[in-house]
Amino acid sequence: MFTAFQLLDKINTHVSELQFTRSPKGLYAPVEYVLSLGGKRIRPVLMLMGYNLYKEDVSRIYGPATGIEVYHNYTLLHDDLMDRADVRRGKATVHKVWDDNTAILSGDAMLVLAYQYMADCPSEYLKQVMDIFSLTALEICEGQQMDMEFERRSDVREEEYIEMIRLKTAVLLAAGLKIGAILGGASSEDAEKLYDFGVQIGIAFQLQDDLLDVYGDSAVFGKKIGGDILCNKKTYMLIKALERADKAQLSELNDWLAAESFSPEEKIAAVTALYNQIGIKAICENKMREYYTRAMESLEAVSVAEEKKKELKSLMKHLMYREM
Ligand code: IPE
Ligand code: IPE
Ligand code: MG
Ligand code: MG
Ligand code: MG
Repeated sequence: MFTAFQLLDKINTHVSELQFTRSPKGLYAPVEYVLSLGGKRIRPVLMLMGYNLYKEDVSRIYGPATGIEVYHNYTLLHDDLMDRADVRRGKATVHKVWDDNTAILSGDAMLVLAYQYMADCPSEYLKQVMDIFSLTALEICEGQQMDMEFERRSDVREEEYIEMIRLKTAVLLAAGLKIGAILGGASSEDAEKLYDFGVQIGIAFQLQDDLLDVYGDSAVFGKKIGGDILCNKKTYMLIKALERADKAQLSELNDWLAAESFSPEEKIAAVTALYNQIGIKAICENKMREYYTRAMESLEAVSVAEEKKKELKSLMKHLMYREM
């Protein structure tokens, strides 16, 4: 059995050796660019870990593991366009280095490439794997649509937010684990439990991403701090702030949400100051811990030896304290 770190090393090497030799170069250069910037590679690592609970020959599933990472990177190209984000992994985003149309089209190409890599899996599991992947990809579009629609609403409830992040983020982590487990020959019960585990860590993961978007260090996080505040993202923090603000705080917060012309730095500083007054960071951290605990419970129900679960548990701890 491999450690998460060893699996990360393996997938990093594999991805770094991918070659995009088709033309025109202009379509593939952004693909090479974004994949060269690394990132945590959490989704392929989870897939390999799901597989490694049952089987040792992890190199057999580098195809699907590459597929899920390429797919994730495709979502980032389009997400950065939608969120007007200029920086990712400490570097200029594709639509900044090139332009919007490049981010759209190279993103489309990456979605197709992701399907090709995903389909490069043992044939007896092909239909099952592609069905999970396609459903997941649709759910992510649904989550992203909800995320955008929520920007224009001020009455988003906590349950709606959790459902939105389950769709836009958590199901991909869950699908990675599930596909890995299925390819490893897991029972359908185990594959389902691992999927549930993935959903719970995925929700905690997005809660933390939202938290770091306000409280992170941009040099470590690799993204500009305050992007979510600027586009009125209905994060858990904003939803709770709207719920818990006193009269004066609420009126100030609403003024910022309605403001049409403002200095970005000033808006970020003012909304962050309100979050601080209301104690939003601790509230969000509690929610994250709640989902990590739920994840732990789902993992307990998976019927593999305790020894084999250690690595997933330690990865979970690592994610809980992540700053990038
Ligand atoms: C970013 O994902 C998008 C979210 C779902 C929060 P990651 O935080 O996994 O990004 P990289 O791949 O490590 O850069
Ligand atoms: C990520 O949401 C969801 C997807 C990319 C599908 P965010 O918009 O919060 O991700 P970052 O913060 O840009 O990485
Ligand atoms: Mg974004
Ligand atoms: Mg987004
Ligand atoms: Mg984010």
